[in-house]
Amino acid sequence: MNLLPDARIAETFAITLPAPDDFEGWRNEARQLLAAAVPPERVVWQEPSEPQDLFAQNSTPPTSDPAAPPPRVSRAFLSLAKAAILHSDPLRFNLLYRLLWRLQAQPWLLEDAADSDVRRINDLSRTVRRDIHKMRAFVRFREVREADGSEHFVAWFEPSHHILRASAAFFVGRFASMRWSILTPAGSLYWDGQALHEGPPARREDAPEGDPAEQLWKSYYASIFNPARLKIGAMLKEMPRRYWKNMPETALIHGMIAGAQAREAAMVDAGAFTAGPLPESLAALADTIAECRRCPIGCNGTRAVTGEGPQGAPLMLVGEQPGDLEEELGRPFVGPAGQLLRAHLTDAGIDATAARVTNAVKHFKFVSKVMRGGGKHRLHQSPTAKEIDMCRWWLDAERALVRPWLVLALGASAARGMLGRTVSVQKERGIWQQLEDGSELMITTHPSYLLRLDDMARAGEETRFAQDLRAVAARLAELAG
Ligand code: URA
Repeated sequence: MNLLPDARIAETFAITLPAPDDFEGWRNEARQLLAAAVPPERVVWQEPSEPQDLFAQNSTPPTSDPAAPPPRVSRAFLSLAKAAILHSDPLRFNLLYRLLWRLQAQPWLLEDAADSDVRRINDLSRTVRRDIHKMRAFVRFREVREADGSEHFVAWFEPSHHILRASAAFFVGRFASMRWSILTPAGSLYWDGQALHEGPPARREDAPEGDPAEQLWKSYYASIFNPARLKIGAMLKEMPRRYWKNMPETALIHGMIAGAQAREAAMVDAGAFTAGPLPESLAALADTIAECRRCPIGCNGTRAVTGEGPQGAPLMLVGEQPGDLEEELGRPFVGPAGQLLRAHLTDAGIDATAARVTNAVKHFKFVSKVMRGGGKHRLHQSPTAKEIDMCRWWLDAERALVRPWLVLALGASAARGMLGRTVSVQKERGIWQQLEDGSELMITTHPSYLLRLDDMARAGEETRFAQDLRAVAARLAELAG
């Protein structure tokens, strides 16, 4: 059905909104266009700052058909559109109008996650919400003393999208009693304690550089920075580098990352745990470990799995932690990873029953997952560096009792348990390192890593694993002389 008079069928309408974040303006224009049945391909939406489209013939909306039904607009669409319109994508107005048009005939369109327009509006809206979240989290005010001695807090921020106005209510609510300004390249906000004023775009130099409160904030940040929980990837995801230049505390991050490992070691040493004198036997050690509740894993109520294998074993194999089956049976390395390990040991000519087989962490860390059929599964979770460090005393005690010539650490957690520092397995594998008691340590991959690889990758990695085990067998033979 086309409600336009014939002469206007081929006309294109150019619409320029007064502001790039003007949702109400867009809505009014869209309503009129829809009521006049102007299809999306006949509308050119323009950014306020863009030069006019010379090919668009008409910038006044067509007269609408008074008998046209009111447009169908769901709350879900309104919520997405209100966010998406703040995106800097110049095609966002077209997208919204096209969706609005299509929704009239397909009311369930938004539920079609495979539709490219639906995907796009969801992407835009998500990105804008993220930008708003970043602005709330990363705006940093600096104090300025006015000539009359009054305080004024000024922040510089560079949002990626048109979110300044949409963020105003948050800052007014949060800092209602302060006088503040937020300056951005697209415009500025000024709150005088009573009313909000909008101002022109600003430049970085218009904002102050630093203030005494900043020093305080930096010291606070440095004191709450926990090197044991340092995850650089997650940190960059949460606080992308492009925001750093306007945040005083980020000046410290470089140094803190560099010193993190040293601080972590110091932290562990400072709280170093000892369970008193060395127990006189492996059985006595196992009894004490069973009572250990020093970390959350120890407190989760599962059975401690201590090592297996004789005192005086020439080789000690250290894994990460017991798995589901190991916890159930109370024995290390009896599940799929254990079977693979034992098969490789046999191939390398190493008698597993003569070795001490143990783990860096003595309790099973897991999350429970309800399966489709209704049963529950316990899914392995890696221990944190801190949890491994908490368990180091037990591993050291076990080694002191067993007194192996050689130790083979399987994977990064085992290597940390042995060395008390973060280890890159790929960099340090296959090399003999002398330990403080004269024994020797080699690091290799964990067998469960091999199980996770696809066939191609696994074949190569298993060959390297087998090589490492042959090197262990050779060194054992050499020492046995
Ligand atoms: N993985 C380990 O690291 N240890 C076990 O005991 C079992 C699986």
